[in-house]
Amino acid sequence: MAQTPRKIFLGVAWPYSNGSLHIGQIVGAYLPADIFARYHRAAGNDVLMVSGSDGHGTPITVRAEQEGRSPAEVSARFHEEFLESWQRLGISWDLFTSTGTENHARVAQEIFLKLLEQGDIYQDKMLLPYCLVEERFLLDRYVEGTCPICGYESARGDQCDNCGNVLDPIDLKDRRCKFDGSEPELRESEHFFHRLSAYEGPLKEWVRDKTYWRKPVLNWSLGWLEGGLKDRAITRDMQWGVPVPVQGWESKRIYVWFEAVIGYLSAAIEWAQGSGEPQRWREFWQDPECRHYYFIGKDNIPFHTLIWPSYLMGYSKATGENYSLPYDVPANQFQTIRGSKGSTSRGSAIFVPDLLSRYDPDALRYYLSATMPETSDSDFTWADFLRRNNDELVATWGNLVNRVLTFAYRNFDREVPQPGELRGEEAISQTGREIDLCHFRAGLEAAMSAAREANRYVEENAPWRLIKEDRARCATVLYTGICAIAGLNVAFSPYLPFSSQKQHGQLGNEGPVQAIGWRFSPPSPGQPLAEPEPLFKKLDPKIVDEEEARMGR
Ligand code: MF3
Ligand code: ZN
Repeated sequence: MAQTPRKIFLGVAWPYSNGSLHIGQIVGAYLPADIFARYHRAAGNDVLMVSGSDGHGTPITVRAEQEGRSPAEVSARFHEEFLESWQRLGISWDLFTSTGTENHARVAQEIFLKLLEQGDIYQDKMLLPYCLVEERFLLDRYVEGTCPICGYESARGDQCDNCGNVLDPIDLKDRRCKFDGSEPELRESEHFFHRLSAYEGPLKEWVRDKTYWRKPVLNWSLGWLEGGLKDRAITRDMQWGVPVPVQGWESKRIYVWFEAVIGYLSAAIEWAQGSGEPQRWREFWQDPECRHYYFIGKDNIPFHTLIWPSYLMGYSKATGENYSLPYDVPANQFQTIRGSKGSTSRGSAIFVPDLLSRYDPDALRYYLSATMPETSDSDFTWADFLRRNNDELVATWGNLVNRVLTFAYRNFDREVPQPGELRGEEAISQTGREIDLCHFRAGLEAAMSAAREANRYVEENAPWRLIKEDRARCATVLYTGICAIAGLNVAFSPYLPFSSQKQHGQLGNEGPVQAIGWRFSPPSPGQPLAEPEPLFKKLDPKIVDEEEARMGR
């Protein structure tokens, strides 16, 4: 029953290349995106998953100033590190580029100019905080102060980390310069603005049928729409960024948030160029059948559910072409680290390169998938990591595979014994259904509970006893166990790509596990088994104290 392949575009938040990736970002956006992409590819759908380093704006220039390096150096260094982290974690991008490419600048400027021509972008004066000590305008993250909405005292000029609202530096109360603490003066400066207010109506209309969005995503978006949308400045007084494509504007740059979201389109164009079919991006961007999913953390919701769609609506109108709007934005809540929020810019986090130097990627992927903050914040603790690795991953799935295969290998001439009844189909279809709905924890839980059931089956039928009494029945039981393992291995593969591939080989198969597709493919009796090796490592309980000491607590 072959179905026509579905087309799926995945845009994943562009991480600022100003520091190492931390697990909050992985669990919030990259891991769910990767599970979703792996599942859909296995199911035979056409997937394009893109992102890149967000290399502009004050997050980069702040770090560069601290380090006495150029923003370009800072950005290039972390971009390289990201590429290595993706590879080691198994995040399967179709393209991970950066906002520093010529292609990106060209696409961003083209959209800027089209919107300018159409009147969606206009020029105006605005009051901006100006630091009298440093004699320069202070942007976004260079200004701190009290949030006008929730009263949080360390809100930044671009956003409040406490209530999540998007701000302008001028909204802050008790403004101070991040570097010297002085109170900035307000001075007039000429800038371009995006007429977001004009899109309030169209956005309200568009959000109306998005009842399937996650509750927090929908509620936040409706809340902002209720509050009324204001026009936003989209240029800044700085030298680092995409140049404003208008004469006389050489001293300013396009605001990082205006151009970074455009990366979703420019990356697809770059991907198509690289594929040798330069027009192919249109299959993903201009076909109304292609669904667009954006995987992001909750702090990025308004940019993806309102602001980016407003640019796309405007650009579609200006060009007379259809650019797809988001279908779903399954943003996650935060994962806290022992109760506090980790973030690159605030220097308290668990960093990916460090973690990968001590733990296997699938152990991390398992833990993060099982605790994914899909509907409410979740908390990372080392004790929980240890417990889930040892008591769930190793004791359930690892143990099932290990005892069944080792026993079959030793007692049945290293081959798959003859058939019986229990299978892996159910886990495959249930896990697939959950992933398709972006219920990643539930998908993993479906596979795990099938693994528990298979363990029980093996336990009850005790092949180690049967082998002495009834060899034929023993073969049936083992075959049944192996079928369950083969099916479960498909169901686990989007979550645990490294061990699933290994397991695929242990069952005597060649080639990539994805080649099976998203379906049950029974191992053939008589097929040779490879010598089993444990899939997962039990962790020593002492890592809990060691890791906590490492974090200085
Ligand atoms: N760099 C931003 C952050 O880390 C996310 C940008 S997502 C974008 O918060 F694609 F919209 F750029
Ligand atoms: Zn606030």
